Amino acid sequence: MTQDELKALVGQAALHYVTPGDIVGVGTGSTVNKFIEALAGIKDQIPGAVSSSEASTARLKALGIPVFEANAVGELSVYIDGADEIDALGHMIKGGGAALTREKIVAAQSRRFVCIADESKLVKVLGAFPLPVEVIPMATARIARQFAQMGGLAQVRQKDGAPLVTDNGQHILDVTGLQIADPLVFESQVNQWPGVVTVGVFAHQKASVCLLGTPGGLKTLEF
Ligand code: 5RP
Repeated sequence: MTQDELKALVGQAALHYVTPGDIVGVGTGSTVNKFIEALAGIKDQIPGAVSSSEASTARLKALGIPVFEANAVGELSVYIDGADEIDALGHMIKGGGAALTREKIVAAQSRRFVCIADESKLVKVLGAFPLPVEVIPMATARIARQFAQMGGLAQVRQKDGAPLVTDNGQHILDVTGLQIADPLVFESQVNQWPGVVTVGVFAHQKASVCLLGTPGGLKTLEF
């Protein structure tokens, strides 16, 4: 199976976790795009979605799925999203698509986080994927120095020759060279640094379930 087919497999499988009648939380990325396509097939069974990015909002609306503001609805039964890395306990690195802040907000508003990923995302220790951190632009240099003290190299993510600007009007630092042995402690620590909007470690908002696409078929990990 190609990677695209593995993404389609888990995107389709995630429908099983959508409760008819409930608004569903929707993440961001190429795997979630497969889920959104599948969701369109059952759109008559749900009131709509809360989205984690402008990109996903546009896709949902284009397929006729209503999008609600997070503030307009209460707790969601499920949030479906991809990951850049996931470990054996359901801790993740996210933010490869620069949507980590809204992703964490919608995940926090949801009872269950269903992660959909192909098996290349499963790792023993988080950190080989450059860690995305959304930051207030005036703090980037100081935050980069703080990562350097941990052995990390932080670089401002670029787009079209200029710093990428997130949906929230901020910048992204991508940090290489880290080995995140204790994701819960790491997330709490970095979140406290002035100027950090969101760190892309999802340990406090970890996955409840991971649907993993493997060449042998669908594998379900429960955490
Ligand atoms: C976006 C994310 C994505 O979930 C993550 O980057 C995985 O994306 P893809 O499904 O395209 O591999 O965190 O901010």
